[in-house]
Amino acid sequence: MSEKPLRIGVVGYGYWGPNLVRNFSASPLTHVAAVADGDAERRQAVSQLYPWVRVAEAADEMLADPAIDAIAVATPLGTHHELCKRALEAGKHVLCEKPLADSLARCEELVRLAQQRRRILMVDHTFVFTGAVRKIKEYVEAGALGDVLYFDSVRINLGLFQSDSNVIWDLATHDLAILDFVIGKSPRWVTAVAVSHFGNLENLAYLTIGFDGDLIAHLHCNWISPLKVRRILIGGTRRMLVYDDTEPSEKLKLYDHGITISSPAQAKGKHEMLVQYRTGDVLAPKLDGTEALARVVETFARACALGEPPVTDGAAGARVVRVLEAAQRSLEQHGARVTP
Ligand SMILES: NC(=O)c1ccc[n+]([C@@H]2O[C@H](COP(=O)([O-])OP(=O)(O)OC[C@H]3O[C@@H](n4cnc5c(N)ncnc54)[C@H](O)[C@@H]3O)[C@@H](O)[C@H]2O)c1
Repeated sequence: MSEKPLRIGVVGYGYWGPNLVRNFSASPLTHVAAVADGDAERRQAVSQLYPWVRVAEAADEMLADPAIDAIAVATPLGTHHELCKRALEAGKHVLCEKPLADSLARCEELVRLAQQRRRILMVDHTFVFTGAVRKIKEYVEAGALGDVLYFDSVRINLGLFQSDSNVIWDLATHDLAILDFVIGKSPRWVTAVAVSHFGNLENLAYLTIGFDGDLIAHLHCNWISPLKVRRILIGGTRRMLVYDDTEPSEKLKLYDHGITISSPAQAKGKHEMLVQYRTGDVLAPKLDGTEALARVVETFARACALGEPPVTDGAAGARVVRVLEAAQRSLEQHGARVTP
């Protein structure tokens, strides 16, 4: 690996950009050379904390600077495609905030461009880099859950209304990225219903996603809940798990619970005829507590140095947007089943 840290330009220093700049600054693998934000107050905030970082109103200067190796895009969704495209065309590696772009076609264009220019295109699917989600993947791959039957997520709070995307493109993206990483199967159909209580953008949504076989996923996201809930249940034929991201410790619990279907020949009473419940131990595994964004930064820097695609590469970003786009189409067809 190259010994020189990757020189980064960050575009967008609103709510999330500061977390990227903090993690890029803390890593020995990366160096923040410049930050661009259209808002003067946000540029001042950068200069106060990082007086050595160059600030600018727009990305043009950093895109033209041959000393900058990579661009991180932390602006609203509607700007991702244009900024990523310009960065790739300027020969930079790109780390883009989720979701990668506002349509599948635009994601695919970025993926092609990155391939042509031999640059890394990575999406910040942050949850994929949490200790909890990595452990869940380990369990699923090792068969600890048996066959996965369902994935059920609730991601609700008094959330930040996004300026140009509804709650599905904002919050469901996280769960779709987790589903893509952990389950790794292509959905067969998607239904979405949602409502916009204020203005044009939907703030409350329910998505249902069907896969081959009996696997089904349900995602509930809401920007106007008084309670903050970040919970995923995954049920399998052998075990079940609950991931509660709001728990300070013991975020993940593996339940050795399940059901056994008895054949009519073995059954005695009416209630025993089909279903027998099994409850066993509950395990709270030790998790890697490293901040997920620190892992994102490390993964991106290593991918750029080695030229190897990261786990949340442009193709992963496109797979998530394929489902988001199908959900949007379903929404427009009053919850009809849509093939992604
Ligand atoms: N990975 C995560 O967990 C996570 C969490 C929150 C937000 N995000 C993502 O981060 C992105 C930004 O979200 P946010 O909540 O920080 O938004 P925000 O509106 O708070 O900040 C965006 C900033 O970008 C600036 N900006 C917009 N267009 C620009 C341009 N063309 N050039 C320069 N500056 C520009 C704005 O002035 C603003 O300061 C979104 O894609 C969002 O989905 C990711």
